[in-house]
Amino acid sequence: MKVLSGIQPTGRFHWGNYFGAIRQYIALQGNEQSFYFIADLHALTTLRNPAELRQNVSDAAMDLLALGLEPERSTLFRQSDVPEVTELTWLLMTITQMHLLEKCHAYKDKKANGIAADAGLFTYPVLMAADILIYDSDTVPVGADQIQHIEVTRDVAQRFNSLYGETLLLPNAFVLDASAKVPGTDGDRKMSKSYNNTIPIFESPKRLRKLIMSTKTDSKSLEDEKDPDTCAVFSLYRLFATLEQQQELAARYRAGGMGYGEAKQALYDVAMSHFADAFDRRQKLEASPDIVEDVLKEGARRARARAQEVVERVRSACGLLARPV
Ligand code: TYM
Repeated sequence: MKVLSGIQPTGRFHWGNYFGAIRQYIALQGNEQSFYFIADLHALTTLRNPAELRQNVSDAAMDLLALGLEPERSTLFRQSDVPEVTELTWLLMTITQMHLLEKCHAYKDKKANGIAADAGLFTYPVLMAADILIYDSDTVPVGADQIQHIEVTRDVAQRFNSLYGETLLLPNAFVLDASAKVPGTDGDRKMSKSYNNTIPIFESPKRLRKLIMSTKTDSKSLEDEKDPDTCAVFSLYRLFATLEQQQELAARYRAGGMGYGEAKQALYDVAMSHFADAFDRRQKLEASPDIVEDVLKEGARRARARAQEVVERVRSACGLLARPV
């Protein structure tokens, strides 16, 4: 399996990122290809503070390593360290039909809200297609919100192949139903920085507790029977808990006599224990930022070698000469 995925360094990672994507990155390490990158070029479409971007990229790398990415079994790199990806973006842009991009959510939503979009936001999915196609990736672990982009990637690859002959490999999204759309603390929308409803992974226990306690529930009283299937607290609890723990808490919901405060405390406890080792590892990494930088550099070296091969293939397919060495 040739696995690849990317994540934007637009803020600290949250539980949606973790269950929707990062946990799968970790599970899919050690494959023929396990490439993961920090999408700093994509982040530039929304983040225009250079110091913040640098800090976020460094935090992102530390977070991913602390959560369990192992440089011996996977390749972690910065998107912008592989400049070939911007070259492939242009080559793909020349054959990408406008209507494919016009229907993409990020652009469509901005337009619907009367906000002017930059060309970078409009062509964002083409850069994403290049990210995937440049490593001949076949498996792309993501949350549900990225499925549309993978479809665009397939459409772009297919059109390139039909114009120039079989050159690009069509990838598949790898989405786990159970965690494809992690709810936020507002109880109904997906967890997302843009909705201000996130629970960051590396948060102080005090703040974590506060966020969990603030998660919206319905207004049933302590005695009432409750429905675990429509409750965001329970949806989050399920992601951490064993099947037995899930069944136990679900039964208490249905029996009545349990307040939401208790369910939230149970969520806090499973989350704290789930991330305990990652918190320790993160503290150690903070003391040695050079190690993190070395991992990113070595990752870029490996990724770039692969990208150069594929870009040469694409250049040749569309009639450009091989680049002089
Ligand atoms: P980004 O940075 O918004 O999110 C990173 C990953 O986290 C997943 N995710 C969620 N999954 C479930 N529930 C949620 N509430 C939730 N919130 C976020 C996202 O689905 C994603 O998998 N365009 C991409 C980054 C990217 C990329 C790529 C991904 C750039 N190039 C190539 C795959 C392949 C993005 O903005 O993800």
